[in-house]
Amino acid sequence: MPSQRTVYEPHASVVKNSHVPSLAHYEEMHKKSLEKPEEFWGEIAKQFYWETPIDHKNFFRYNFDITKGPIFTKWMDGATTNVSYNLLDRNVRNGNGEKIAFYWEGNHPDDYSRLTYKRLLEEVSRFANVLKSRGVQKGDRVAVYMPMILEAVVTILACARIGAIHSLVFAGFSADSFSERILDCRAKVLVTSDGAWRGEKLLQLKAICDQAMSKCAQKGHNVETCVVVSHLARVTSPSGTPYKSNKTPMTDGRDIYWQDVVPQASTSCYPEWMEAEDPLFMLYTSGSTGKPKGVLHTTGGYMIYAATTFKYVFDYRPSDVYWCTADIGWITGHTYVVYGPLANGATSVLYEGTPFYPDNDRFWVVVDKYKVNQFYTAPTAIRALMKFEDDLVTRHDLSSLRVLGSVGEPINPEAWMWYYKLVGHERCSIVDTFWQTETGGHVLTPLPGATPMKPGAASFPFFGVQPVILDEAGKEVKGEGEGYLVFARPWPSLMRSLYNDHDRYETTYFTKFPGYYCTGDGAKRDADGYLWVTGRVDDMLNVSGHLMSTAEVESILTEHPSLAEAAVVAKPHPVKGECLYCFITTTEHGVFDDKLIKELKQIVRERIGPFAQPDVIQNAPALPKTRSGKIMRRILRKIAVNDRDVGDISTLADAMVVEQLFATRPKNA
Ligand code: PRX
Repeated sequence: MPSQRTVYEPHASVVKNSHVPSLAHYEEMHKKSLEKPEEFWGEIAKQFYWETPIDHKNFFRYNFDITKGPIFTKWMDGATTNVSYNLLDRNVRNGNGEKIAFYWEGNHPDDYSRLTYKRLLEEVSRFANVLKSRGVQKGDRVAVYMPMILEAVVTILACARIGAIHSLVFAGFSADSFSERILDCRAKVLVTSDGAWRGEKLLQLKAICDQAMSKCAQKGHNVETCVVVSHLARVTSPSGTPYKSNKTPMTDGRDIYWQDVVPQASTSCYPEWMEAEDPLFMLYTSGSTGKPKGVLHTTGGYMIYAATTFKYVFDYRPSDVYWCTADIGWITGHTYVVYGPLANGATSVLYEGTPFYPDNDRFWVVVDKYKVNQFYTAPTAIRALMKFEDDLVTRHDLSSLRVLGSVGEPINPEAWMWYYKLVGHERCSIVDTFWQTETGGHVLTPLPGATPMKPGAASFPFFGVQPVILDEAGKEVKGEGEGYLVFARPWPSLMRSLYNDHDRYETTYFTKFPGYYCTGDGAKRDADGYLWVTGRVDDMLNVSGHLMSTAEVESILTEHPSLAEAAVVAKPHPVKGECLYCFITTTEHGVFDDKLIKELKQIVRERIGPFAQPDVIQNAPALPKTRSGKIMRRILRKIAVNDRDVGDISTLADAMVVEQLFATRPKNA
């Protein structure tokens, strides 16, 4: 396995023509971005259209120090613009109207289409007009529960065009999770499709939306309009039998088909001029208390940061074809499927399916088909694909690839090497991008032509980003060392608040270390100054790149009448990165058996989503607790991996519990 000293220089073919061709260039640009932020970002902002010009004297203000007053960040405050105008009209006016914005590749290889910038602008305007006709106004929330289809992009940009705040929820979340999110933001409209195929699985999305909307209605909130894209009837099903769209139940007065209203709407819609600090969208992320947090991003700063990271991190050039496999319902889909690429006038692939359908080489088939230059995916997908024969990769022509991206969780060196050698032919640069829903865009990342790569290192800060490592006491760790990863100042796309809960924003991110934005991750700096993200330092876990909180799963488990208590920890998993390992204590009358295990797994699937299903459930007649009753998760994590080196257990109320749990680990653990 490569050591921290193994360094892979960017290949000459990548360095040539690269936007940032050396580490010295990068350092110079990074220095300028910190010393003269107005000048650095001001130059970039000039490439966009501002209806009310930027006041350069009032370019950037913030307070990160909770002891000095409320936390805030403002970039280009007072200037007005419209993001959809900049992504669409501006590109059409620049002569790129006929350029392909998206190649759409369906779940089934027989299904594909394409959309130019001009057509995308027309579709967005049409749908924006439909939203307006249903009473949607600036500031209203629109909930979106969509598969990876072009209408999802159209919906996002139509909201941006009229100043409505889109709130996408990954269409793998359960009706419960979705309804909680609709209720929290009190969405007026919901946009979905009748369903979608993912591999051979049929997702009945409208049916899930119906359940979610009726749960909301029970709690006094009625979604006024539900727009449904009729998708299933136009695609090829795995069996070849056409799907009958009349199977989808529609509620009169509330539900309308996209196809019945959008085609006749006008293709022109004047954009709503938005203040730079007006909200653009919100996106929920798990919180360690269990209640999801509505991360709020604003207009101007998010737009310029999404555009700039896309350009430099993927070393994008106008003739490139770019593909990000992330689902549109996650932040990666927002910034690097929609906003970043379109802000650069790029051509992207939008893929509906999975890496495994119809065969385990689908990713490489698609790269070859569209001659993809930049490919961006998650370590969990790489680890899943590594298990198959090399031939599945090598039989395809992947010579178009130049940059390979990784996101969502730490990439283990073995997966990195496979990606680098087999997919990238030791020619491509790998960008291991560290960021969060909250950061809006990449914050730590190598740059393709500039950064000598170390497998598994997120490397260096992007422009405008100032990372600091702190010890437990809040003292800065300079040089080599490890600790909490925090940031000393905001970059343009840092989230501005949590929807309707600024207090929670301040407490979660700014209270532990006044003066810093606290990521919740740990990091170490090696002797060469490279940053390595070591994982969460709070009670969050990352299953296949999906972040969730142990508290959320525990509270769902303990609602089961047979359970007295539950404690959930993350256990390393060869493909998912981490999986859920649950310790449960039954009530006096509860019986621990296969039926209970099945029920508990099912509850978690239903309440959160299938991706959250626990891998291991262990019977724990008692949990290791301190004398004050606090569960010692450190010990549970050791039991989960069967590591008897548990350290100091002198504070435990009953040390015998530990031995008992080691002795009764389930066979599948
Ligand atoms: O723990 C870090 C991990 O994913 C978390 C953010 O999750 P989310 O908000 O869902 O956004 C994921 C996509 C940006 C982080 O706090 N994470 C993300 N990227 C990396 C990572 N951990 C290590 N290396 C990465 N490249």
